Amino acid sequence: MSRYDWNDERHALGVATMDATHREFLELARAIESGPPAEFATRFEGLVEHTRAHFAAEEALMRETACPSLREHEADHARVLGDLGRFLQSVAKGRPAMARAYIASGLSEWFDLHVATMDAQLAAHLNARQHAG
Ligand SMILES: [Fe+2]
Ligand SMILES: [Fe+2]
Repeated sequence: MSRYDWNDERHALGVATMDATHREFLELARAIESGPPAEFATRFEGLVEHTRAHFAAEEALMRETACPSLREHEADHARVLGDLGRFLQSVAKGRPAMARAYIASGLSEWFDLHVATMDAQLAAHLNARQHAG
């Protein structure tokens, strides 16, 4: 069991592309947690890259569909990417302790809350549009 295990109740949003990306995110985070220290820097960088693409895709979807929560949602993405970028710089300098601590708790807490609030809002917006035809 890992805090990064997929959980239908907590994570499933019913939008296939978002769910697939979130599953990948969790898998990457889990691989960092359980992986050898020698792999940490490479895997952490991979997670940051994946997260950049994940956020950019959601933001593009919000723009295309005029999602009302765009600005708030983008701001949360930007804050987390800022944190990840700073951790990545420390990792590159041979100081992975902060990044490790973040993976061990903060990132998981952020992800679950973000999915339950902002990503859930986006999914509801997309599903409502689809059903509106
Ligand atoms: Fe997301
Ligand atoms: Fe998001």
